[in-house]
Amino acid sequence: MSTVFEKASIGTMQLQNRIIRSATHEGYCREDGGPVADKIVSLYRRLSEGGAGAIITGYCGVSRSGRAIKNMRMFDDDRFIEEYAGITGSLKQYGVPVINQICHGGGFSSPDAVEGEVMAPSKVRYMTYNVVPREMSEEDIYRVKDDFVAAIVRSKKAGFDGVQIHCAHGYLLCEFLSPAANRRRDQWGGSTENRFRLIDMILEEAREKVGDYPILVKISAYDGDRGGMRVDESVKVAKLLQGAGCDGIEVSCGGINDGFAAVRGTKVPVEAAFALFPAFRDMPALKKSVLKLLAPLLFKKHTPLHLYNVDAAQRIKSAVDIPVIVVGGFRNIDAITDVINNEKADFVSMSRPFIIEPGIVNAFRDGSKKESACIDCAYCLMGVSDNYLRCYKGRLPGEKTSL
Ligand SMILES: Cc1cc2nc3c(=O)[nH]c(=O)nc-3n(C[C@H](O)[C@H](O)[C@H](O)COP(=O)(O)O)c2cc1C
Repeated sequence: MSTVFEKASIGTMQLQNRIIRSATHEGYCREDGGPVADKIVSLYRRLSEGGAGAIITGYCGVSRSGRAIKNMRMFDDDRFIEEYAGITGSLKQYGVPVINQICHGGGFSSPDAVEGEVMAPSKVRYMTYNVVPREMSEEDIYRVKDDFVAAIVRSKKAGFDGVQIHCAHGYLLCEFLSPAANRRRDQWGGSTENRFRLIDMILEEAREKVGDYPILVKISAYDGDRGGMRVDESVKVAKLLQGAGCDGIEVSCGGINDGFAAVRGTKVPVEAAFALFPAFRDMPALKKSVLKLLAPLLFKKHTPLHLYNVDAAQRIKSAVDIPVIVVGGFRNIDAITDVINNEKADFVSMSRPFIIEPGIVNAFRDGSKKESACIDCAYCLMGVSDNYLRCYKGRLPGEKTSL
């Protein structure tokens, strides 16, 4: 039987326990796309000292054509290697693997953040920015493949202990996989294998260049989009990932237009979105008041609030031999222990509990049975697009708490 607080590995990477900090965008980004190094080091030091088994960084962009939001860090150029090496170098002493998450925003990118036009596999409207992206040419696709491979090579050179390719939450590689977002009739669309082709090529080419360096993938096992990804198909995708040399799969959910499926809140955070999220906050007043009224209808509230990816992860785990990580609504040690002891997944990852309590893993290890103090308001997600990451505890800046 596996246990939570035992040593475990993902590929060649050793972890002290089975609880991982899932990728969480921190906004620690300079205008040129480079990292705000001291902030990253200080947060990851707290997470390391707080017992996290590994840390997956917030997403960072492989190309300016896929800069999802203005404060998305970039790793699109060798000139950033030295700086990232400084960050990883300061953290080595803790022995906690740091895994660099890399991403291309695709159609789910803010038009004012990308260089050029927003692009995606197909011309499908994205609600968040109300954009119909340009359909990618073969040349675009091969360029993006090269960008991902280059970012993986850079991650290794910069001393990250591994890399995670973001294929979830409606971003570009998730769009390629999703039959709802990918309507192509060429070799990149149609069958699962065709929709997987770009990821396959990235993994194969990267593997040749980085040897046994740990390469993980985060997927959305299912989404709420009409005609989108379902667990039956993501089991197939997981097998393809294993065949392509992926070292571990993190199971999440959520597609291109199903709102907050991946980061669920007790209610749709309409107030926070209009106060903090630039695309909504900065819209003309009239449009804003109309949309505010419609928002509860447009964005559906997802249930259940907690542990919503465990069934999918369990199905995927039974189909592959590589480690499976499950994320989504873990808030106490009992739920984590259940997943690990009963081998529903090999690792559990969390995002929001680490924001409010970076030392939560040590607390669990020391016997705490308490729920995380996170109240699932999801304001942190709304706020981080042009601010540094913080916990709002259900309160807008300047507002008195009702809690
Ligand atoms: C503020 C914030 C930022 C996030 N940034 C990322 C990210 O950069 N990459 C990613 O894959 N997921 C990101 N997520 C999603 C989390 O990794 C996780 O899948 C989701 O929040 C569910 O886990 P939780 O219930 O433990 O928060 C983010 C979530 C939050 C709240």
